[in-house]
Amino acid sequence: MPGFELINNKEKTALNKLFDESGILFAHGFDNIRKKYHVREFEKKNQSFFKSKFCLAVSSGTAAIKVALMAMGVKKGDHVVTQAFNFIATIEAILDCGAKPIIVNVDKTLNMDVEELKKKITKKTKVVIPVHMLGSSANTNEIIKICKKKKIRVLEDNCEAVGAKFKKKYLGTIAEVGVFSFDFGKMITTGEGGLILTNNPKIYKYAKEYHDHGHENNPKLPRGRDTKSIYGFNYRMTEMQAVVGKEQLKKLNYILKENLKRHKVLEKNLKNYYELRHILKDTIPNHDTFIFYCEDNYKRKKILEILKKYKIGTKNLPDAIQWHCSYFWSHALSKKECEKSIRTKKILNKAIAIPILVKKKISLYERISKEIAFL
Ligand SMILES: Cc1ncc(COP(=O)(O)O)c(C=O)c1O
Repeated sequence: MPGFELINNKEKTALNKLFDESGILFAHGFDNIRKKYHVREFEKKNQSFFKSKFCLAVSSGTAAIKVALMAMGVKKGDHVVTQAFNFIATIEAILDCGAKPIIVNVDKTLNMDVEELKKKITKKTKVVIPVHMLGSSANTNEIIKICKKKKIRVLEDNCEAVGAKFKKKYLGTIAEVGVFSFDFGKMITTGEGGLILTNNPKIYKYAKEYHDHGHENNPKLPRGRDTKSIYGFNYRMTEMQAVVGKEQLKKLNYILKENLKRHKVLEKNLKNYYELRHILKDTIPNHDTFIFYCEDNYKRKKILEILKKYKIGTKNLPDAIQWHCSYFWSHALSKKECEKSIRTKKILNKAIAIPILVKKKISLYERISKEIAFL
């Protein structure tokens, strides 16, 4: 979340420099009149920060999921399993590949219920997409273990947990493929933007070509005479997004540190009064949201009033639950499939997610949490 709060002269200067130096806003071509390829640099910087062999920058997180699924070989008739607490983008990407989304409920970690996943896997399952919702890791290793036995591929949707870790590794780099979003509400932002991370050269090659109309970027040929073997689409990132992204990435460690300070205050003051979101062992969230459960409807109402009074509000829960719970997605899924998410809806209905904003003082989170604790 805090990326947008920290946009300042660094991003502005970088953008101005891009215009002053060349004004080339396109990631490819124009080779004889440019010195820099910012999208490629942004990819390299992500590669070394997150320790992934390959990184491909794309136009959005949604595009990243679609391109990744295509590169993983998803086609018409395949089943792709994902979870009920999610964002509609994942379902849209699955449908866009011609595949069928299969929904698994979440548990009190607010991530995929692994026991239910086991029951939803069939011969038609091609890919499983655990979604690390609101900054915290799914039971990734367990999911990978289950899928490996059945030769099913795993794609981590890490749009909401950039910077979070599982056993010292960054989320998005644990499974065969991972995706990030850099939209305006995410940990770091390029306005709109996304990233695909993988160690698999075949997946990278397909994704690179598919997101760029099939271009192979043959180094021996000018772009206009480039070679091709598949057709694709246009999901390219622009140079403007990339120069902003390079500055934002430099701020990620600071954001993680500041998030943690505010999260710790909320945890200390609320843990004795409310049930907190369950966090899995060996995982480190990115702490961009603090989530707890409140069964009492009267108290819930009061908590929301306090968060409104201090101009903090909530993040997704409960304000945008309709966009984040598949129970409400009858415009995209069958009514029967939606109704299977009832258990998730019940859990989400009791959850409150406080956004962590790094420009808000720690003392404000101290005050808010004490007011909520003593209700
Ligand atoms: C879990 C999840 N997946 C995918 C996306 C899509 O990302 P984008 O907005 O960059 O298309 C989002 C964005 O909110 C998200 O939260």
